[in-house]
Amino acid sequence: TRCAAFISGRGSNMMALVEAAKAPDFPAEFVVVVSNDPAAGGLEWAAGQGIAAVAIDHRPYGKDREAHERAIDAVLETHGVEFICLAGYMRVLTPWLVEKWQGRMINIHPALLPDFKGLHTHQRCLEAGHDRHGATVHWVSSGVDEGDIIAQAEVPVLADDTADTLAARVLVEEHKLYPAALRAVMSNLTKL
Ligand code: GRF
Repeated sequence: TRCAAFISGRGSNMMALVEAAKAPDFPAEFVVVVSNDPAAGGLEWAAGQGIAAVAIDHRPYGKDREAHERAIDAVLETHGVEFICLAGYMRVLTPWLVEKWQGRMINIHPALLPDFKGLHTHQRCLEAGHDRHGATVHWVSSGVDEGDIIAQAEVPVLADDTADTLAARVLVEEHKLYPAALRAVMSNLTKL
């Protein structure tokens, strides 16, 4: 299955996916990495891996978010993309893109959904006093961080945690969880 990864920043989850997909039995390949931010560190890394790395800056589109996504979608079309992995893509998608890719687009969120949808999940987890935290891979649906859950990984919250130490502990799990979840999803898709 020809996959795209969407990023906005350093792209460490995208890197974990690309590395995992190098295994000969992995049921997906990454053919393009898309970022809304031309400065995203992950773009250069992807290009170095021989993967098409495309920046489509959202800023020139102003408030027309759908026009921005239609430009991205045209890139996906060019590369014959069949499936999208959102990997730290920090923009809320329009209903148009979500509907078009329904059932073919997944996301990773740094919290145990349905807890802590949205931003600043690690800080909010600490403030809530939870003793466990983690990450979730889920289908993308029209509500932000609301689609059906595919897989989760848990970590303990430690007494001396800061948002940064907690984020780092979760990130280690994200890098294992996302490739495993993608593999599972692909095995089910091919059965359809
Ligand atoms: C990750 O924690 C991801 O779950 C969240 O944003 C962070 C992105 O990190 N949505 P990276 O760009 O994958 O390194």
